[in-house]
Formats: sequence, structure tokens, C-alpha cells
Amino acid sequence: MNEQIQNIENQLSSYEFKASEDIEKFRIQFLGSKGLIKGLYALLRDVPNDKKKSSGQLINALKQKAESMLDAAKKNQTTSSSKKTHEDLTKPAPEVKLGSHHPLSIIRREIVDVFRKIGFSISEGPEIEDDWHNFSALNFPPEHPARDMQDTFFIEKGANEIALRTHTSSVQVRVMEGSTPPIRTISPGRVYRNEAISARAHCFFHQIEGLYIDEDVSFADLKQTLLFFAQEVFGSKAKIRLRPSYFPFTEPSAEVDVSCTICNSKGCNVCKYTGWLEILGCGMVDPNVLEASGIDSKKYSGFAFGMGVERIAQLKFKVNDLRMYSENDLRFLNQFKSTL
Ligand code: PHE
Repeated sequence: MNEQIQNIENQLSSYEFKASEDIEKFRIQFLGSKGLIKGLYALLRDVPNDKKKSSGQLINALKQKAESMLDAAKKNQTTSSSKKTHEDLTKPAPEVKLGSHHPLSIIRREIVDVFRKIGFSISEGPEIEDDWHNFSALNFPPEHPARDMQDTFFIEKGANEIALRTHTSSVQVRVMEGSTPPIRTISPGRVYRNEAISARAHCFFHQIEGLYIDEDVSFADLKQTLLFFAQEVFGSKAKIRLRPSYFPFTEPSAEVDVSCTICNSKGCNVCKYTGWLEILGCGMVDPNVLEASGIDSKKYSGFAFGMGVERIAQLKFKVNDLRMYSENDLRFLNQFKSTL
């Protein structure tokens, strides 16, 4: 008896379900009313009484095994066939949503390309800066009120001051420290200032600052470079004007306006009826700044300028609320798809 049970057990173990018809074949062969397992129960009658119990248990276990194999095979079949019914090869493919460049990236790239054309390299640096690179090397004496011009987010106060950079002039200090003139570089990047968020101000924004240092660099070079920039970005009819200003790191310093491109200088509410729009700050690099970075201020001179990317984007795209640039609203961002 045990031999016969073992024999059927071996057949079960080596059974392979190859096609869907095998499921029914298996059921008939092992579990059917004339199947192998039923046959074993019939043989049980002739088994001596003292062995009936153990043989009966073996046959029961065999039956359970066959039943669970049958269940598993059925389940397998329904999952693979249900998969098939969902595939409709005639359906159009799902839509692929294409992204677009962020308006600030579009403007940054445009500005960087203008300066690349006239030989400026691109330099980048850390957003978390020490006091030296953000302030001291740029001629901000300790406790000088000019530090308040830029409301700083401090990370560590005291002798070893660490803060989020308030401008990318810090990158230019790093460039001056690490190279010898001629230097011609622009530093695009994100900067942070502790301002209340409104349509006109944000606690972070993007700048592009430029630095040019060589022998005999003059204010006329600065003015011509900025005129070239303004005409490339705002059109060949654009004019610029310079107004005296103050920055600790430049002397003399100026603020630059471009003729209003929205009303052609006739006067509108964007230029507040002046015909001019303020776009950047600039000046001749203060000799103290050159010396602090190890550059001989008797031999070399230079100019620097800095502008806000959001400001230029506002003027080009006529988007007046600064907050739109960081809200990730697709209704806003989708409008820049065609600008690529
Ligand atoms: N760093 C100045 C700012 O953030 C901009 C600037 C750069 C002005 C270079 C003059 C020269 O406001």
C-alpha cells in the first residue's frame, strides 16, 4: 500500500502544467471519481486494521496536496489571462507631457549667452558663505551700516560668521583669490535676503554679477559693455543711463536704467511715467577689494556689475508679481513653452 501511495506522490511532484487543458486533465487523473486517489481509498479496505489509520492519513495528505496544486494552477491561469484582456494594441499611446524651461532659466541663459559672446567665462560658488567672501573682502568694515543694506540670513553669528550669500559678488572674490588678471567672468546664482515676501520682494532671488579686471580698464569700458548687453537683451534701440550710487565694493558706483521698452520711453505705469527702468548696479572695483584678494591695485583696475534675473524677466515677460516665479503653478509655467 505504502509503495502505491509513494508512487502517486512521485507522479504528483513531477507534474508540470504546460497548457491550460492540463488543469482539467490533472483533476481527472488525480482527483476525479475514477482517479488515482479515489483508487487508493478503495484499496484501503484491504489494509490490515492496525495499519489503516496511518495509511488513511497518508492518502488524505496526498489528496490535499493535489487539491492545492489544482487551486494554484487555476489562479495562475486567471491572472495571466486577465492581463491579456487589458491589452488593446489598437489604443493610442498615453500622452507624454512635455515640460518647459522655467522663465528664469530662459532669461539666465539669454543673459549668459550675451556675455559669453564677448569673452566672459562663467563662475559658480557656494550658497552658504563665510563673512570674508560675502562682506569683509568686499570692503564692508565690521559694524558698517552698509551690511544692513542686505538683510542677511545668518547661520552662525560671531567671529566665524556663516550666512546665506546675499549676492554673488562672493563668487567673484573667490575667482580673484584663485587667479591672476586678466579676469573676465560672470557669476549667475541664487541669493538670499531676509525680506517679507510680497509681489515686489522675495527672500530669495537670482543674480548675474560680472567682473572684468585687467590693465587700464576704464569706466568707458563698463558703459560700453552694459550698452551692448542692454541692446542684445532689450533690442537695438535700447538706450541706457547711469545715475551715481553707492556700493562698498565699487568707487565710483552707479545705477543703470534702460529706456522703457514697454512704452518706448513715452511714459507708462511700469516706468512710472519716467521713460526709464532700473536694471542693475555697477562701478569700478574699489582698490581695497583688489588688494584684499591679492591683486596689485596699482597695476590693475576693473569694473563690476550685478543684476537680478527676476527683474529682467519681469521686464521681458511683463510679469509683475515676483512670487509667480517660485509657486510652480503650471498655468503660469506652461505659457513659456513657446519661448524655447
Ligand atoms: N552686489 C550688488 C548687489 O547685490 C550688485 C553690484 C554688483 C553692484 C557689482 C555693483 C557692482 O546689490
